[in-house]
Amino acid sequence: MSSRTTTRRFAAALCTGLLTVSWGAVAAQPAVAHSDDDAAQWQNATPGNSGDAGRPDSPGNSGDAGRPDSPGNSGNAGRPENPGKPGAPGRPGGDDDADQDQCAFAPEGGRTSYEADRDSLRAHSDDDIRIGNVAAGGGHHTDEEYPDPFPDDADYREHLAEEFSSITHENYLKWEFVHPEEGVYDFEAADAVVEFAQAHDMDIRGHALSWHSQNPEWLEEGDHSPEELRAILEEHVRTVVSRYAGCIQQWDVANEIFRDDADATIRGEENIWIRELGVEILDDIFRWAHEEDPEALLFYNDYNVDGLNAKSDAYYGLVQEQLDRGVPVHGFGAQTHLSMQYGFDETYRENLERFDALGLHTAVTEIDVRGEVDEHDRMSDEDRAGAAERYARVLQACLEVENCNSFTIWGTLDAHSWVPNTFPGEGDATLHEGDYERKPTYCILQRTLVEHQEGTEAWAEDAAFEECRGILSEASV
Ligand code: G3I
Repeated sequence: MSSRTTTRRFAAALCTGLLTVSWGAVAAQPAVAHSDDDAAQWQNATPGNSGDAGRPDSPGNSGDAGRPDSPGNSGNAGRPENPGKPGAPGRPGGDDDADQDQCAFAPEGGRTSYEADRDSLRAHSDDDIRIGNVAAGGGHHTDEEYPDPFPDDADYREHLAEEFSSITHENYLKWEFVHPEEGVYDFEAADAVVEFAQAHDMDIRGHALSWHSQNPEWLEEGDHSPEELRAILEEHVRTVVSRYAGCIQQWDVANEIFRDDADATIRGEENIWIRELGVEILDDIFRWAHEEDPEALLFYNDYNVDGLNAKSDAYYGLVQEQLDRGVPVHGFGAQTHLSMQYGFDETYRENLERFDALGLHTAVTEIDVRGEVDEHDRMSDEDRAGAAERYARVLQACLEVENCNSFTIWGTLDAHSWVPNTFPGEGDATLHEGDYERKPTYCILQRTLVEHQEGTEAWAEDAAFEECRGILSEASV
């Protein structure tokens, strides 16, 4: 945490006299307010929200003990002294003059470097392309004991570190987890992922600062005035972003704000912030986040924007207007939840390119490719080959678009994937079998990366890639 940020925070706290948020005990687990129009929403090959009542065993509470530099809380409703920053709002990269915030969760001596095995995905990921996965919030299977894999499974964590150079929390940074009661934050689970990332030289995609889903009941069912809601939102954004300043490189600031209808209308009913505060609130959310971490890239993120269509058009128009107003929007994330039941949109790359041309970063933020599965939870060979091809086409598109630097797979093992619970009868969407054996989808990503960086000969001849060459040849991919 830079001294500048800390000073600003405490100055604001003193001014407002609002050092009120408790970092202590977290109250009982809240239920989750859910406002999705589920079935209809997912009709068109889209991911769903599965009516996630309640949250998993609350990760207790961080209480922040032991983190001297842990952001206390400014309670900074209003923040009059923070008039927005100079620099380059509306363009990638944040402020040119900003000092690099040091991640408060870095081990002594700073983020640790990591030596990746040549036969891994992360060995072929560099600053031009980070390859990521989710820490996994768990809780997708209702009929069996299902502990969160990240805190409970050392093999799982080891696998994440070996294969990926980027990580996202999946669920742990959503409001219902991190802000379970009014005025009470619970950062334990989220902090652990950030510490892990720092210790293993991984970037982080922060997900998500505002969304219409997975909000706590106190928020969705509360009787707050618009003024109170605005103050709650500002305080949340500032508190969470400043805590992880210097640790999180990309933030999904506004998630899924447009519907899937023909006109891609704004979620004016489902999204509490837009409903109560108007669409203008989006400008403020980006500005608050930018003020707390000027280095972080701030993204829109959505599903069903995997090509030129009404929804991606809606983002394109909105972002153009915001950039004209100087709003610090830096990125556009295509979630890319694909299904073998639907075709692949040939305009995938063209869509990323038009956002790139606006001066934005782009990212593939949540890719998985699902299909109908048999009794062994496996797609047909034909669909497996098709899924591999789609993974490769999306990665290739990202590699070819200049400022597409982040490619995140939404699930490590199918056992942890959100897909089977949301789409019964579908699955096989990730890169690995249950025992971490590689699927063709893994190997085609490896091939795409190696050929892009080192050429086809390296892929065809280097002994390091023998396993994947065999898997792809067996799968006729
Ligand atoms: O909290 C409950 C717990 O109390 C219960 O015991 C357990 C068993 O069902 O479920 C737990 O809640 C689960 C929650 O994740 C936290 O683990 C829900 O059932 C489950 O439906 C919920 O799913 C998440 C989903 O978002 C909710 O919308 C998935 O893990 C997560 O992968 C998914 O991610 C979204 C992105 O955030 C946005 N883009 C689409 C993507 C896929 O839907």
